[in-house]
Amino acid sequence: MTSRINTILIIGATSGLGEAFARRFHALGKTVIATGRRQAKLDALAQELKGLETRTFDISDLDSLPANVESLLKDFPNLDSVVINAGIQKNFSFFDPASITSETIINEINTDLTGPTLLVRLFVPHLAELARVGTKTNLFLTSSALAYAPFSFYPAYCPSKAGAHTLAKVLRQQLSNAPDEIKKNMNVVEIVPPYVDTGLDGEHRDAVNDLQGGPEQAFPPMLLEEYIEKFFETLDQLEPDGSIKKEVAVGFGQLVVDTWRGSFGKLLEQVGLPA
Ligand SMILES: NC(=O)c1ccc[n+]([C@@H]2O[C@H](COP(=O)([O-])OP(=O)(O)OC[C@H]3O[C@@H](n4cnc5c(N)ncnc54)[C@H](OP(=O)(O)O)[C@@H]3O)[C@@H](O)[C@H]2O)c1
Repeated sequence: MTSRINTILIIGATSGLGEAFARRFHALGKTVIATGRRQAKLDALAQELKGLETRTFDISDLDSLPANVESLLKDFPNLDSVVINAGIQKNFSFFDPASITSETIINEINTDLTGPTLLVRLFVPHLAELARVGTKTNLFLTSSALAYAPFSFYPAYCPSKAGAHTLAKVLRQQLSNAPDEIKKNMNVVEIVPPYVDTGLDGEHRDAVNDLQGGPEQAFPPMLLEEYIEKFFETLDQLEPDGSIKKEVAVGFGQLVVDTWRGSFGKLLEQVGLPA
């Protein structure tokens, strides 16, 4: 495991991918801070994983984010890695207005895009300052294969994740204009998972399977264990300069990233913008 990561905050670590990341980083001896809204789940994790730190906060409560981040940075001044991973997913149709409320759409976009964008704003100065004085730092943003290749079942999730994907690219472009030490020591990494078997789609999996003609015809999820093995394999494949890959992508996630890099990524490079 890369020595670039020593103290890692995982926002959205009470279940699914984030919990599995937290367990693995903890097993690797890293200092891990896990967050989520579910206090009981965080307490159970902290009891099981000795030394695991936890914080409870809701990233869709936008006004609360500055105080939460300030408190985290006060308690963990050596925080070198932040994973903005929390997310939710809703299934609805704009052609069936009764299938969703405006409030639910707003909450989904706040959770999947606005909250992450504000968190980036709040964490970048800290990570940049550590990088400036020589510490390797990492900002991970979880997007999705659906950020690149949207599915109609998730009408607010896909655009929000497309925003998170673009946020990672824009942030990397800004980083390329930062002072040399920051540029050298700070990584921006987009996590691009494929469809993985977690609780993310628990409330609508059956309905979405039905829309695809039943579970036999439906797009199958990757097992969480398989995803995590492949994620950590890719994370460890450092670039020649010791940096983490720009995207840690797996399965269909890797396919869409390769397609993007072979097309839009090339276009950006042709006009002198790092992708
Ligand atoms: N599973 C997939 O197929 C898949 C594919 C591509 C991308 N992703 C992305 O991967 C990330 C993790 O998803 P998952 O599959 O692991 O789903 P999950 O098991 O439902 O986990 C979601 C995590 O996000 C946290 N979270 C949700 N809303 C939050 C909020 N408002 N404030 C703070 N924490 C919040 C949850 O914690 P609490 O409930 O305790 O708040 C939980 O820890 C998400 O960004 C998701 O979009 C997943």
